Amino acid sequence: MNQTDTTDTPISMDDLMALCKRRGFIYQASEIYGGINGFWDYGPLGAQLKRNLADAWWNDVIMMGCSGRTGPNGKPVRIVPLDTCIIQNPKVWEASGHVGGFNDPMVDCRETKSRYRADHLMVLREAGASEGRGYAFMENDEEQLARAMKLLGKYLRKDIAESDVSVTPLVSLPKEQIADLVGPGVKDPGTLTEPRAFNLMFKTYIGATATEDDVAYLRPETAQGIFINFKNVIDTMRVRVPFGIANIGTSFRNEVTPRNFTFRSREFEQMECEFFCHPSESREWYEFWRDYRMDWWESIGLKGDNLRLREHDEDELAHYAKEGAGTADVEYRYPFTYPDFGELEGVADRANFDLTSHQTASRAKMEFFDQERNERYVPHCIEPAAGLSRGVLAVLCEAYTPDPNRPSKVFMKFHPRLAPIKAAVFPLVNKEGMPEIAEKLHADLHQRFGRRGFVELDVKQNIGKRYARMDEAGTPFCFTIDGDTSSDHAVTVRHRDTLEQERIGLDAVGEWLEGKLGG
Ligand code: GAP
Repeated sequence: MNQTDTTDTPISMDDLMALCKRRGFIYQASEIYGGINGFWDYGPLGAQLKRNLADAWWNDVIMMGCSGRTGPNGKPVRIVPLDTCIIQNPKVWEASGHVGGFNDPMVDCRETKSRYRADHLMVLREAGASEGRGYAFMENDEEQLARAMKLLGKYLRKDIAESDVSVTPLVSLPKEQIADLVGPGVKDPGTLTEPRAFNLMFKTYIGATATEDDVAYLRPETAQGIFINFKNVIDTMRVRVPFGIANIGTSFRNEVTPRNFTFRSREFEQMECEFFCHPSESREWYEFWRDYRMDWWESIGLKGDNLRLREHDEDELAHYAKEGAGTADVEYRYPFTYPDFGELEGVADRANFDLTSHQTASRAKMEFFDQERNERYVPHCIEPAAGLSRGVLAVLCEAYTPDPNRPSKVFMKFHPRLAPIKAAVFPLVNKEGMPEIAEKLHADLHQRFGRRGFVELDVKQNIGKRYARMDEAGTPFCFTIDGDTSSDHAVTVRHRDTLEQERIGLDAVGEWLEGKLGG
């Protein structure tokens, strides 16, 4: 989001979503049937953008071992990849705690049939009143808050100002007070249920009989596939602690309130690494990963005020985290969280919680014999867990740059490494030998850069409209063949971000672009 360039207000999510649809980044899933809440399809440019982000992570984190950094032990960082099943034996999710504990407390409205995360509901009351009628609204929902204020004013039969009201989280109220609340979108109290636990895992059945014995779950995180293969990897690869196992894959969560475009979806992709180390070294590896992951997101274009690293307070730590264990989030300032931030990636010291749980439940040994230390132990684990889908969203928000001075009024300022279209080639007019030169240049560039993204050839419409289309697609460079090209063997390259135009030799375009794209 380039709010810092012009004004200090966030971009409009409606505008971004409209561009995503118009240019083929993201579509509503099942759109022709009215959509399906919490699911999104990626169009041609979105699919390539997501692929480029995943490739950047795969290459930098896994293949280059944290972009070639030296670990706190002074050695290169070793990470190996893995690709595991979405459906595993249900015992995996019992041992991991997801069957018993992966719950969000939620509140249903009997009248509107809406379902709310209890921890996201706030209650508006007359200042000083600790019981009696209250009006529930979703936190950060200005419209619902305004409506609650209006209804409270009507109920109290007076004009009310902000100083006349108090707001408390619904979860802090005694249960018997829920009946006195008026839910969002209804007029009378008594339609909200008490908060109830709701397991977020999607259930399915294996085989034809579909009895309770055949229940299986769609994975809610990719991490457990790594833990349950820890022993296999140790036994088949020449890896030694410290080392990491990483993967990219789809996860599913039956989120109570999917919202904010793809931010909280029911099907999404994760990029997770489990990094195993000796218990005595977990703090330094945690700090290494925390700082590396922040730097990495910056390196692919999320910069400045919109990105921050936030260490969790002690009371936010997960149930498995030992006291003093580090947990941090890399957070992005999304337009819908603005001026606050929302999670992009979590980096957590999980101690040996997962390996020990699986060792106890499966009786398979999860120990590692450390020859250097002559010691057998269950390694501790540092987990950098990033959202691929959520990363794409952050990249889209960051790239969206309003510019009233160009015909498109907006351009997508993608890092060249991520841009789904790497370059476009235009003949200025579709005659006088220009299309032939353009086709040849396009074929050369496609041959050279096609593995990294699209190279487009566009001959239609006037040049201004073609530039406008490429600005919205976020194409960093456009090469135009004009009337002089056949004599001076040069083309005009237009830079997306600066609108600068320069003339470069036709034969030098490939090398020139190579130098600009990086990665
Ligand atoms: N293995 C640890 C784990 O899954 P998490 O914080 O629940 O941790 C990691 O998820 C990342 O996955 C989050 O930081 C976020 O980027 C992404 N993520 C989680 N739930 C999501 C959802 N419902 N929709 C989109 N992305 C999600």
